[in-house]
Amino acid sequence: MRVITAVKGLKRCIIELFSPLLRIGLAAAQALGKRGAHVVVSSRRQANVDKAVALLQSQSIQVTGTTCNVGKGEDREQLVQMTLDRCGAIDILVSNAAVNPFFGNIMDSTEEVWDKILDVNVKSAFLMTKLVAPHMEKRGGGNVIFVSSVAGYQPMQALGPYSVSKTALLGLTRALAPELAQSNIRVNCVAPGIIKTRFSSALWQNEGIVDEFKKQLCIKRVGEPEEIGSVIAFLCSKEASYITGETITVTGGMNCRL
Ligand SMILES: NC(=O)c1ccc[n+]([C@@H]2O[C@H](COP(=O)([O-])OP(=O)(O)OC[C@H]3O[C@@H](n4cnc5c(N)ncnc54)[C@H](OP(=O)(O)O)[C@@H]3O)[C@@H](O)[C@H]2O)c1
Repeated sequence: MRVITAVKGLKRCIIELFSPLLRIGLAAAQALGKRGAHVVVSSRRQANVDKAVALLQSQSIQVTGTTCNVGKGEDREQLVQMTLDRCGAIDILVSNAAVNPFFGNIMDSTEEVWDKILDVNVKSAFLMTKLVAPHMEKRGGGNVIFVSSVAGYQPMQALGPYSVSKTALLGLTRALAPELAQSNIRVNCVAPGIIKTRFSSALWQNEGIVDEFKKQLCIKRVGEPEEIGSVIAFLCSKEASYITGETITVTGGMNCRL
């Protein structure tokens, strides 16, 4: 799901990729919205967009919603144009959408699986950045946030192609940061550990798996979406003005090394 928001007081617009309810994108929209942003939210499904908009409105957050499939060029362009029409500018992009259509041995994964995962999880993140960067430049700068994963550091069992796509986002962050710094655009990434969302429910709803994960954690619990949203909001804030090209791991103390 994608969301676009604009913050009037801060004269800021945000494009966000998120999904509603128990989701990291929604938590990011809430965190940014509560700090005064007008958020534009989007996803492939109208019903998800409607739920997110209703929830954010109930929290007095300025929000606009629209459907968008980030894998489609026409949809990406419409999202950006709609944001500009509604908000007049774009200051922040949170690239959060991801898919994982495959579980199993990586050697059994097909070209179709790789195309889908890389298109949505990696290529669309870059192509969205390419679309919004000129508008941020006109504003004198901005922020791009990618959402990677602990799996980007240590591939998870049965999630090989997904894990590789998340490793690619660490590289994309590093590759974009020096070029976009010239336009005063900071590029950072967040790598969540196991967070309580629908996406990861197969992990946290299984006590055996959770117990295994807990052995690797300093903080012995699954994370909450709000604990990622607040880090995203921090990275977009003035307090993080000297941070770019970084990935912040938010994992409860899991060891993350490439
Ligand atoms: N939960 C975790 O433990 C965890 C851990 C590490 C990293 N992450 C990352 O955190 C991010 C958010 O995940 P989540 O846990 O909040 O799960 P999620 O709710 O499933 O978030 C992914 C969202 O992406 C949207 N999406 C998928 N394909 C799309 C497309 N082609 N175009 C537009 N939107 C699309 C989906 O919304 P629609 O179906 O409505 O389109 C979905 O709601 C993902 O990048 C994920 O890899 C999650």
